[in-house]
Amino acid sequence: MDRYAVIGHPVEHSKSPLIHAAFAQQTGQQLEYGKVLAPLDGFAATVAEMQAQGYSGANVTVPFKFEAYELATELTPRARQAGAVNTLSFVGQVIRGDNTDGVGLVRDILHNLQFPLQGQRVLLIGAGGAAEGVLGPLLDASLATLSVVNRSVGKAQAMVARASAVAVPLVAHSFDALPGQVFDVVINATSSGLSNERLPLPSGLFATDALAYDMMYGRETPFMQYAREEGVARIADGLGMLVEQAAEAFYIWRQVRPDTASVIAAMRAS
Ligand code: ATR
Repeated sequence: MDRYAVIGHPVEHSKSPLIHAAFAQQTGQQLEYGKVLAPLDGFAATVAEMQAQGYSGANVTVPFKFEAYELATELTPRARQAGAVNTLSFVGQVIRGDNTDGVGLVRDILHNLQFPLQGQRVLLIGAGGAAEGVLGPLLDASLATLSVVNRSVGKAQAMVARASAVAVPLVAHSFDALPGQVFDVVINATSSGLSNERLPLPSGLFATDALAYDMMYGRETPFMQYAREEGVARIADGLGMLVEQAAEAFYIWRQVRPDTASVIAAMRAS
């Protein structure tokens, strides 16, 4: 049977095995999907071992997405753009690297939340790996403008400068520049929710009927609380993105597109 796994450190908490098992059952695909804990200094050795054992592919999570990018012998354009890889396919000795995070975010917003991105003023908060991974697909979504804000503004500026051939006005800001600006979509791609820290966001940031989206999932973050205090009606966590990025990986490996809505609903209910 074809074998896949998510590689991370830590990895116990990962929901990917549950999601892929649900996809496999739903589509009648015969596969196994497990979890592999790689030592912090042993990502490449772990991948080599998995190839030797006959794995067909793997998902890659924190902190190995950049190492996976370096290790891949072939990269898709979107992986190259993101500078990070979350999906590996093992084809003989070839290690093909892709990145499904950004497309997962955009699909969740467009299809699950039914929130149009075209013509919208979007604010992306953060300039770490998570933000970098979604920048390209956001830029492809026909936005009116994309602003990136980060605590270390230099990182936001560097990320914006790296984005090439951009059809959308793209700017980098510090948090100080936000008062007085208004956005239709605000996406939190920082890790501030992990430490329960509040971001220095001003009042009045959201347009009427705006969407507040936190890429974290599992609980209400300070960013989601802030959006609620600001009266935002559409507030989403990153569970839908998690399932959508998995669905895209499943499609890469199996050429079958699973239904995501039922899996998101089941995970929300549990
Ligand atoms: P990830 O892979 O989750 O993106 P990362 O690459 O370490 O992790 O990036 C973390 C991001 O969260 C960065 O944008 C970081 O801002 P800095 O670049 O200024 O460090 C942001 N971040 C984390 N905690 C934050 C906080 N309390 N306030 C503001 N930004 C925060």
